[in-house]
Amino acid sequence: MTSSRSAIRTVQDPLLMEARILIVDDQEANTRLLESLLRRSGYTSLKTTTDPREVLGLYAEFTPDLILLDLVMPGLDGFGVMEALRGLVPAGTYLPVLVLTADITPEAKQRALASGAKDFLTKPFDPTEVLLRIRNLLETRWLHLKLQDRNRLLEAKVSARTEDLEEAQIEILERLALAAEYRDDLTGRHTQRVGQHAGVLARALGLADDQVTLIRRAATLHDVGKIVIPDYLLLKPVNLGPEEFEVLKAHTTIGARILSGSRFPLLQMAAEIALAHHERWDGKGYPEGLKGDAIPLPARIVAVVDAWREGEARNGIGGWWRCSPPPR
Ligand SMILES: [Fe+2]
Repeated sequence: MTSSRSAIRTVQDPLLMEARILIVDDQEANTRLLESLLRRSGYTSLKTTTDPREVLGLYAEFTPDLILLDLVMPGLDGFGVMEALRGLVPAGTYLPVLVLTADITPEAKQRALASGAKDFLTKPFDPTEVLLRIRNLLETRWLHLKLQDRNRLLEAKVSARTEDLEEAQIEILERLALAAEYRDDLTGRHTQRVGQHAGVLARALGLADDQVTLIRRAATLHDVGKIVIPDYLLLKPVNLGPEEFEVLKAHTTIGARILSGSRFPLLQMAAEIALAHHERWDGKGYPEGLKGDAIPLPARIVAVVDAWREGEARNGIGGWWRCSPPPR
């Protein structure tokens, strides 16, 4: 009883009454009969055709929520219409087709259902039964659309949360780089500039967008190992002696140790850069004296950018010389 009351309320649902229903039957008397029945029941958005070849065009133009389809029609029968619709209706779309036909053989029913019909009624039909089936199919379509909307909303939320998380991770890494940078450069501009310039250089070398982004972000951590270098060395206003420089060189291996062991490509690349950004093409760099191509490309890019800052250092921006060998 409760469900029957609820069903009556649903029939009067204004949203369902606005559903777009396409009626396809080669007999005009049938289309008129169905249209009249539906209009009397409150449905307002109806389209009829007696030419099944028009269905594809009407599908695109009218975007029906439900198709009432005759099976036996000249030119293109109901099976042909359903087959053609399969190629047109996007995957995952629930477009109900209610087949109405005088063909009452079980084979016809089975074939219609196998062809994509969601329900099946034989003519002459009972108006109450037709209306009930139509309402059920439309309710299913509505639920399906709601579910799709909900899924889209959830996907958008997950995507936004993922972006937030990624941004937070990147910001934490940038702040870690800044923490090291502030040890000897209160402006904190060096790490940002190295990151930006490394990205520009990586792009100029033709690297893929994702690699450019990785290098730009990872490069900011190149001197993170400075965090454990004593202040008296980092802040020494003149060039370092050979022994002092040996201590400073450890910022590469310590930086790599801080950053290594991660499963994230950003940190893996950052560790690689931290370790090898003072290697030199001629093998005279540190800490391992790697030569040429043996130096990972991201580290080579950062080495060039870091060295380029020599000019800036001479103009008072500072920072570069402290990681470089003392003058001979
Ligand atoms: Fe360095």
